[in-house]
This record gives sequence, C-alpha cells and structure tokens, in this order.
Amino acid sequence: MPINEKLITPEVLNNTLRKEIYPEVKVIALPKKGKVRSIYDIGNNQLLMMSSDDLSTHDVVHKRQVYAKGGNLDAISSNCFEKTGHIIPNHFIRDVAPNTWLVRKAERILVEIVFRSYITGSGWRDYVKVNGPEEGAMVSGVSIRPGYRKNEKLDDVIFTPAAKGQVKDFLSVPEMQKMVDNAKPEDREKTLNTDDPKLTEETIRNNYKAFGLRKPEDLDYIAEKSFQLFDSISRDLESRGYLLADTKWEFGYFPDGTIGLIDECVTPDSSRIWGKAQYEFNPEKSEFIIVQNDKQPFRDYVEALGLDEDKEALAAHWMADEVLKAGVIRYCNIREKITGTLPEITTTPRKDIILEALGDAGYLR
Ligand SMILES: Nc1ncnc2c1ncn2[C@@H]1O[C@H](COP(=O)(O)OP(=O)(O)O)[C@@H](O)[C@H]1O
Ligand SMILES: [Mg+2]
Repeated sequence: MPINEKLITPEVLNNTLRKEIYPEVKVIALPKKGKVRSIYDIGNNQLLMMSSDDLSTHDVVHKRQVYAKGGNLDAISSNCFEKTGHIIPNHFIRDVAPNTWLVRKAERILVEIVFRSYITGSGWRDYVKVNGPEEGAMVSGVSIRPGYRKNEKLDDVIFTPAAKGQVKDFLSVPEMQKMVDNAKPEDREKTLNTDDPKLTEETIRNNYKAFGLRKPEDLDYIAEKSFQLFDSISRDLESRGYLLADTKWEFGYFPDGTIGLIDECVTPDSSRIWGKAQYEFNPEKSEFIIVQNDKQPFRDYVEALGLDEDKEALAAHWMADEVLKAGVIRYCNIREKITGTLPEITTTPRKDIILEALGDAGYLR
C-alpha cells in the first residue's frame, strides 16, 4: 500500500531529523559530518552512522529537510547490502536505533564509482558540450558513440568515475593541476572548489595513492564487482517496475585489508531510478518520457529557480511545503516498493526517539 498522503500533516512535515552531532554518544574521536550523515567513531573499528533528513543538491545542504528521508535511504541501502553481500562485502553490521547504523570502519577510497546505463544528468551535459550527438564524445575516459538522445539507454553499462572531493584536494594529480592552470584568473577559485570532478580510469591508476588506493589493480577489482552489482540490482529493480539509469558507490579498505562497499547503496539520493512502464520516446515532443523516483525533481526545481548558479542563495532558500511533501511521498513510495516497509509517521521529536534508543542500546555516556 502506498503511503497515505493525509498522514503528512504540516506538523509531520516539519518533524524532521536535522543533521547534528549529539555529544551524548560515547566516542573515541571527534565525530564527523558529511552533507547529510554524521559519523561517530566508537572504537573497535566500528562507527555509528546517522542518516539525517537533510537534503543536498548541487553540493549545498538545504535549509529545510525531507521528513523520513534518512530512514528511507537506510531501509533501501540495507536491503541492497543484504541482496548483494554475495558479490562483495559491505560495511553494514546492524541497525542500532532509528536512522542509526553500526558499520565497519573503512579507509576510504576517494573515488566516486559512478555507473550509467542511460545517458542523463552530467553524463548527458558532458556529451553535449563537445557536440557528442553529432560527433560522439569521451565522458570520463569512456568513448560514447554519436547519435544518442537525452535519457536514451546506452548500448552498454559504463563506468564514469569522479573524484570524491574537490579539485583542490587532488592537486598532486597532474590533470587536476592542469584544470587550475588552464582556468582564467577570475575562474581559478571556482575551479579549485569544483566538487567531484570527473576522472578517467587511467588518471586514477597513474595516481592511485592520491585516491587512497593501495595498488592500481584494486581499481580493476572494484570496477569488476561494480559491474556485477549494477547488473544484479538493475534486474531486481526491473522486476519491481523500475529502471536504474545510473548510480554511485563508495568503497574502502576494512581493517583486514579486504575491499568493501561503504556508505549507501542504490538509494534515490545516489541514483536515478525511473518508472519502467512509462519510459518511452514521445515523437511529438521528441524526447523520452521519464518518471523520476529519486532526488532529481529537487535538482530540477532548484535549477528552474536559477539557484544552482548561486550557492549562497541556494543555502538560504526556504523550499515550499508542496515540494517537500511531494519528495516525502516519492521517497516513501520507492522505499515501500523495494523493501515492503514504510517509515513511522510521528510528531514526537525524532531526536528524542533516537537518543532514547541509543541509550537503551548502551551507546550513550
Ligand atoms: N564504513 C565507512 N568507513 C568510513 N567512512 C565512511 C564509511 N561509510 C561512509 N563513510 C563516509 O561517511 C560520510 C557519510 O556522510 P554523507 O553525508 O553521505 O557524506 P557526503 O557529503 O560525502 O556525501 C562520507 O564522507 C562517506 O565517505
Ligand atoms: Mg554521501
């Protein structure tokens, strides 16, 4: 059964879990914050990873949150980890409280392992930038033939890696330094701060240490496993009525030296997930019809307002209730289709619920 929209009252919509560090948690090092998650090092090579309802688009965290988003992502990810553990190990140990996982700590590999089955998003933008539809183009070192239309299925699944971080974090890599050197003086700062710049497999291999790899061949292992993951998860999603257009993974080294999947797995934040039944080319409009069950409608909304060009304005933007509510329903529905579960709809402050559960589980001072 889909989520009952009437349950999402204004009180519920505002009862979101903000990303914050709880000083009550027993830790052995300073907690860290990502854009939407917080990480507590509790010792014994284990972390608590807490997924807030925060929303980031264009690498900016919004002022308002999306009710139940963190829990929805966690439910989808842990389901995905469970289904793919036979392909590659992952960091998930167990849920310890709402929005909170116990995970194995890893030494991160600083590459976003991006896989695409359809040409959309930044893959499409890069293809068009160099006249790809007429001439073909290279995207992250992968040659794409001419003739594709926006959102069209690629002949093969492709691996288009990006750096996990900003250009300025990788200046020892000649290609990154070159980007800065080639920038006009007025664009230098912007270039240094560019998030997740695209890479090629060759650049990663030639500079493997800068990307946290212990040996260049580890990239081959990760790529091979990721092709298997993509294939397996795409099939599962197709059986549920969805197309996996693209996704992004992170990998790391566990203390015993094995490589495994960390962070999240094929969530609507890290992937583009389209309705299978609706996907077709509309000759009148000369475009593919896509129904997006992911973060993209938030990005589209932000871009329509021109906020992607102005990060300060984006950070200050107060997203309208209807847009948030549509997002809550979208994320709940995809979670329900994949996992068969829905989040708790409550007006009890979420922080109270989590701290109580963490206390019961023995994780507080
Ligand atoms: N098992 C793990 N060990 C170490 N770091 C991890 C692990 N799983 C995820 N991370 C890191 O934790 C952070 C998760 O927070 P998130 O808000 O998703 O960050 P980001 O802004 O980088 O997307 C990321 O920096 C991710 O690389
Ligand atoms: Mg992340």
